[in-house]
Amino acid sequence: MTVKLEIPVIDLALSDGAERERLCKEVAKVAEEWGFFQVINHGVDESLMTRTLDVYEDFFHSPVEEKTKAVISEDSIEGWKHPTLTQASEYLQHVASQFSAEYVANSWIPATPKYTKKWPPTPAALRPTSIEFVNAATRLHEKLCRMMAEGLGLESDAFVKHFVDPRVSLRANFYPVKTESNFVGGLAPHSDLCNTTLLIDTVDGLEVKKDDTWVRVKVLPNAFVVNVGDLVEILSNGRLKSCLHRGCPNENKERLSVSCFYMPNDDAVLAPLDELLVDGQTAKYKAVRFADYFESLISKGNLLKDRIEQLR
Ligand code: SIN
Ligand code: FE2
Repeated sequence: MTVKLEIPVIDLALSDGAERERLCKEVAKVAEEWGFFQVINHGVDESLMTRTLDVYEDFFHSPVEEKTKAVISEDSIEGWKHPTLTQASEYLQHVASQFSAEYVANSWIPATPKYTKKWPPTPAALRPTSIEFVNAATRLHEKLCRMMAEGLGLESDAFVKHFVDPRVSLRANFYPVKTESNFVGGLAPHSDLCNTTLLIDTVDGLEVKKDDTWVRVKVLPNAFVVNVGDLVEILSNGRLKSCLHRGCPNENKERLSVSCFYMPNDDAVLAPLDELLVDGQTAKYKAVRFADYFESLISKGNLLKDRIEQLR
């Protein structure tokens, strides 16, 4: 008999009240066993989630001349990218080889000129909606990081105190319907280099590696898919897992997913937490400055899991 695995779903409705302790333990347990889970009743306005998907849907359906205003350039990894665009830098060539779909990626927090100059100018609702969404998602990221810490028996701020003045980005991925002729793999298997990722989706296509099996995530209306990123894996000394996942097109429909990445500021130094290095536990990762870790992605085009392995 084949057992069909599904990623766990956690109802956060009572997470600030009577059920907090139990839910924190559950969040930590699934972050440990899966690194991936879905949350419902998370407190983010559902109409904001819908508006965010809608505005990116409009963006991808805009004329090429409009999207080109936000086109990714040599000196940045921010902006719009289409697989058919000519790639000059090694990093962008690598990205194109790893990702057959179209995407737009921007940092929205902090709103400094380095990032704001890459914000797509159209459709008109894209900027205000992205800012509103990122602010709401950041509160949920922080809440989940607190819950994971409490669930591990740590102080609530054990993770978030390393994430002051965070950087928060969105990446919207647009996959055409999968056909025999266009399928070249979607977004290749990778782990996320952030603290945590929150993803909203339109149709099934995200797949998560659990042991040796790829598990397809079932899209639930108004849910967020949460995953542990590399930095929470490092801080937790490997107890919480930043798992491999891949983005696939859907067999029947166009697919749009929007990932929100919660990252620390460039100067944050990440290392296994001292409070976890007890009872003979030794640090499994070397300390790393976030900007250097990020650079290891950009300079080597290293989307894959061996990035974190280099810290061992
Ligand atoms: C991501 O990993 O950033 C997105 C994956 C997906 O679109 O399924
Ligand atoms: Fe990812």
